[in-house]
Amino acid sequence: MASSGQPRIQWLGRWGFVLAATGSAVGLGNIWKFPYITGEYGGGAFVLVYLACILAVGVPVMMTEIAFGRRGRGSPIDAIRRVVSESGRSFGWSLIGWMAMLCGFMILSFYVVVAGWSFSYLWKMLTGGLTGSSVDDMAAVFAANNANPWVLGGWSTLVTLLTMLIVGKGVQEGIEKSVSWMMPGLVLMLVLLIVFGVFSGGFGDAVRFLFSFNTGSLSSAGMLAALGHAFFTLSLASGAILTYGSYLPKGASIGRTTVSVALADTVVALMAGLAIFPVIFANGMNPGEGPGLIFMSLPLAFQAMPLGTLFGILFFLMLSMAALTSSISMVEATVSWLCDNKGITRPVAAWSTGIVLWLISTLAMLSFNMGADWTLAGRHFFDWLDYLTSRWMMPLGGLGMVLLAGFVLNSETFRDELGLAPLPYTLWLTMVRYVSPLGILVIFVDALGLYQVSFAQHWPWLLTILVVMMAAGEALSPRLRKALKPA
Ligand code: PFF
Repeated sequence: MASSGQPRIQWLGRWGFVLAATGSAVGLGNIWKFPYITGEYGGGAFVLVYLACILAVGVPVMMTEIAFGRRGRGSPIDAIRRVVSESGRSFGWSLIGWMAMLCGFMILSFYVVVAGWSFSYLWKMLTGGLTGSSVDDMAAVFAANNANPWVLGGWSTLVTLLTMLIVGKGVQEGIEKSVSWMMPGLVLMLVLLIVFGVFSGGFGDAVRFLFSFNTGSLSSAGMLAALGHAFFTLSLASGAILTYGSYLPKGASIGRTTVSVALADTVVALMAGLAIFPVIFANGMNPGEGPGLIFMSLPLAFQAMPLGTLFGILFFLMLSMAALTSSISMVEATVSWLCDNKGITRPVAAWSTGIVLWLISTLAMLSFNMGADWTLAGRHFFDWLDYLTSRWMMPLGGLGMVLLAGFVLNSETFRDELGLAPLPYTLWLTMVRYVSPLGILVIFVDALGLYQVSFAQHWPWLLTILVVMMAAGEALSPRLRKALKPA
């Protein structure tokens, strides 16, 4: 129940949650980031580690989040507070909810700037403004786009407006309706782009690049990037999935829906690779170009190919829609919290959130032009938002949620909410108690610069630590639960 006493609204259609959560997961992370980090970290071996991270950390954390949302029927703060109070635990745990909500908001503050790049490139493609004969020419177009705060700010403002327009309309009328045509449209465009890639001449190279698992080419930095990206790409610990989960009908299977969303997200990331790399290889370009890969190399390659402009338009249209379906999920937690707790209507909540978001994202946007000199410890505001959320807040929020679910709450709570058979339940419990926390701790060890962990080299150590954690955890958890019981 929402705090207003009204029963919480639920997704209308059978596929409402899966479409919306997949819309949240599939975004710039899949189409912009995944291909370029795969390119940077050497291809197939990176893909393999990434898949392992999705399975071992992403899926269990996502199930936990959805279960929190559905059990607590509220925004991350309210839902976690209700679930912990059901087990008689301290309300202090709802700090995890506050952090998740803030994290989603902070991600959106820089995400709208990148989404703005996508919209502006779509416009340039449509109007013939993307011409050049070398990667340097394209880099100059990209730099000019960023240098003008009015232009860049105009595009990110457009993304903010569209996001708030959809969220302001509500869960069913706004979010569910828009994802129900944007997601199929996106997949259709992606398929068309892959067909284009097949005929471009570089398809075989792209397949080899993505799927030849040459472990020698993978650095420890690559493995950490894979783990960190698993959080980002599945929209974890940012309030989005938890809040969408709060609209999930009681009868739906959390295990099955999670697997569908994670699978769809992974398939789209791989499909994006299969759409982008053939074009890059066919034109003899470097797959390890970095963040500019799709904004510099790709437009140049499209330009050199028959029907390239048409497919370029399709590509940036797809990217813009993917960004939008993710953006809406990042503010839903805040908007839902405002509606439930401040007695304001959804449109008012959405537009007031939009104003604050616009102010912060404008600061992030200025990192590329007027504020190019405004740095703190070597980072711009834009980079700080990215660094704090992906290196700290997402893993920390994920860790808090799995420990809460695995050790602190009454064991019946999640057993009941997940409704799994004994074997999958034990598997989930082992993952949230030991495997996910260990993976997350490795991210922290690295982020703190304490030690450079290499999975390839240190796996016997990691395995030993895991076994010790399991033995200690199983021995201590009953006592821990008892100690945490309120007087
Ligand atoms: N999963 C999105 C992507 O891959 O682009 C990013 C994201 C969406 C992160 C929603 C966090 C979030 F709450």
